[in-house]
Amino acid sequence: MNNFQQQILQGIPDTLPNKIPYDIEVNHAPKRKDILTQEEKKLALKNALRYFDAKYHDVLLLEFKNELDTYGRIYMYRFRPNYEMYARPINEYPGKTVQTKAIMHMIQNNLNPIVAQHPHELITYGGNGAVFQNWAQYLLVMKYLAEMTDEQTLIMYSGHPLGIFPSNTNAPRVVVTNGMMIPNYSKQDDWEKFNALGVTQYGQMTAGSYMYIGPQGIVHGTTITVLNAGRKIAKHGENLAGKLFLTSGLGGMSGAQPKAGNIAGCITVCAEVNPKAVYTRHSQGWVDEVVSDLDALVVRVQKAKETKEVISIAYQGNIVDVWEKFDAKNVFIDLGSDQTSLHNPWAGGYYPVDISYEDANGMMANQPELFKEKVHASLRRQTDAINKHTAKGTYFFDYGNAFLLEASRAGATIMAENGIDFKYPSYVQDIMGPMCFDYGFGPFRWVCTSANPQDLAKTDAIACNILEEIKKDAPKEIQQQLVDNIQWIKGAQENKLVVGSQARILYADAQGRIKIATAFNNAIKSGKITAPIVLGRDHHDVSGTDSPFRETANIYDGSQFTADMAIHNVIGDSFRGATWVSIHNGGGVGWGEVINGGFGMVLDGTKEAEKRLKTMLFWDVNNGIARRSWARNDEAIFAIKRAMEAEPNLTVTLPNMVNDNLLDNLFKS
Ligand SMILES: NC(=O)c1ccc[n+]([C@@H]2O[C@H](COP(=O)([O-])OP(=O)(O)OC[C@H]3O[C@@H](n4cnc5c(N)ncnc54)[C@H](O)[C@@H]3O)[C@@H](O)[C@H]2O)c1
Repeated sequence: MNNFQQQILQGIPDTLPNKIPYDIEVNHAPKRKDILTQEEKKLALKNALRYFDAKYHDVLLLEFKNELDTYGRIYMYRFRPNYEMYARPINEYPGKTVQTKAIMHMIQNNLNPIVAQHPHELITYGGNGAVFQNWAQYLLVMKYLAEMTDEQTLIMYSGHPLGIFPSNTNAPRVVVTNGMMIPNYSKQDDWEKFNALGVTQYGQMTAGSYMYIGPQGIVHGTTITVLNAGRKIAKHGENLAGKLFLTSGLGGMSGAQPKAGNIAGCITVCAEVNPKAVYTRHSQGWVDEVVSDLDALVVRVQKAKETKEVISIAYQGNIVDVWEKFDAKNVFIDLGSDQTSLHNPWAGGYYPVDISYEDANGMMANQPELFKEKVHASLRRQTDAINKHTAKGTYFFDYGNAFLLEASRAGATIMAENGIDFKYPSYVQDIMGPMCFDYGFGPFRWVCTSANPQDLAKTDAIACNILEEIKKDAPKEIQQQLVDNIQWIKGAQENKLVVGSQARILYADAQGRIKIATAFNNAIKSGKITAPIVLGRDHHDVSGTDSPFRETANIYDGSQFTADMAIHNVIGDSFRGATWVSIHNGGGVGWGEVINGGFGMVLDGTKEAEKRLKTMLFWDVNNGIARRSWARNDEAIFAIKRAMEAEPNLTVTLPNMVNDNLLDNLFKS
């Protein structure tokens, strides 16, 4: 057994490891709000120490108190393992089942420094999207996964492994909950407090569910969004050549925008205040050029417009300045959006204009009330500038980061005339909902646990063939989807999308997902693919997420404020064969604003795996289509009727349409 395997099996070491110096080269989480009272701090420390033998409490108490004072959280830095953190080939993990080894592969990917946003604070993306709260939890989980059999299930409470319980081979190996709160305790400051106490965490979507695959995960969705936004604004069916897309954020997910802009064929300007984030995305080739002077930016963009150059430019600075400068200089913006982390506005998600990055980081921890005022003022200024551009013809859409919501809370001029809706649509209302989710198309993904790029190339070819087959008989309603997805998978290798594990994302509907997964399982069985494949998806999908300002923004029967679908989805996946399931509060638009869930499924080439994938994937997609259809969404009614024709065991309650005149007449009198 090698050193890595020994360390995994050891879990929390018996003797204290040496302290590790704070590595200033790494992108660290900002200091979190100092929110706990003295009594609560004692409780946080007591909570942290329960992972360790009492003989170490003296030493660790001082150290953890120092972490709590300095960073606002207890990360237990000393326990960060000294081996390299990355998704190893599956056979390098110690363990008794392929399923748990595959989960270890996925966890290590989420914490890989080239993948994770704040790797030492166990944050994968979105500023606060945590895999675990501290390193003790990581060590224990890896040990449990290495020890357990497929007659057991590991129970995860917001990063904390409650234990391994007896179950059965058909049960999920891991059941994860993140941030589940009593509803009245689910405000932003509740997260600050209960996370600082060490009893909950913000799992985002794919951070706390071990399903993150780097920015590729979002590039595909972003490409589809930009392409379809382009189709919306096209006057004569023209493409995006020479058109300008302005947005912000080069972080975990937002970093996908320039790449997507390039694939969609436009000029992309993406503002980012954090120089480390700019450097990361530029050095990874995800953005072509970096400009830090506003005048130079204007000149560069005008040149690109003249030559219809496909180019992505990072502006190192604040997005508000760009909106204002482009207005002053009359640079026409065709498409506009924003992907700062406004789901997390007070703790590093949004940097207000006119304050340096460093000063903002200090202010949010030391003068939180003042910081809040600055964020609000900045959002009002940003909205004013956006309004000027939209008056000139820019198509602006909310990109699922709670921009419209937070701008409205800041008192910005963002409401529609009726005072209820926002002035601008969210991308789900206009694009992703009706064009994708209602038909069942969503961010299906897979990971080759051999860690071998050749396996990934083989899966790409298999998936492409299947989509081309499906396209032959597909109805006209979904032809455009299939064309876009075939083009995506054909260009996937060339676009060098892999960062971290050998993963691929491909928007597909239930039929596509099932056919592709079955073909993968057969290829593993025949040895063509050399190791198991993990299937999964982003929670941002047809059925996994109830989120009134994002995934379910195009549900208009009032049920967008309910969360039955996400809960049913995860329960249904768990008894239909998922290898692991997760359900989260928060993710995307913010703590308390969304319930989202997902799954992971290991394909190992067996008959059982084939049975599981067929039943579970069918449910995983059609549950959401059924709900969307009940909400009277035409595209979903079309899709669920098609699903019922294909599957005699499916019976879905369909809505009867009401003539609006009846209601209008009633209320007129
Ligand atoms: N619509 C979608 O499909 C979708 C997908 C992913 C993420 N999101 C949402 O988008 C947001 C961003 O996600 P992420 O993972 O990239 O988060 P992130 O925190 O990794 O990145 C956001 C970036 O914005 C930068 N930033 C903040 N304020 C700025 C400002 N005023 N000017 C310029 N840059 C600024 C930050 O420095 C950070 O690097 C989140 O709210 C997320 O939930 C939406």
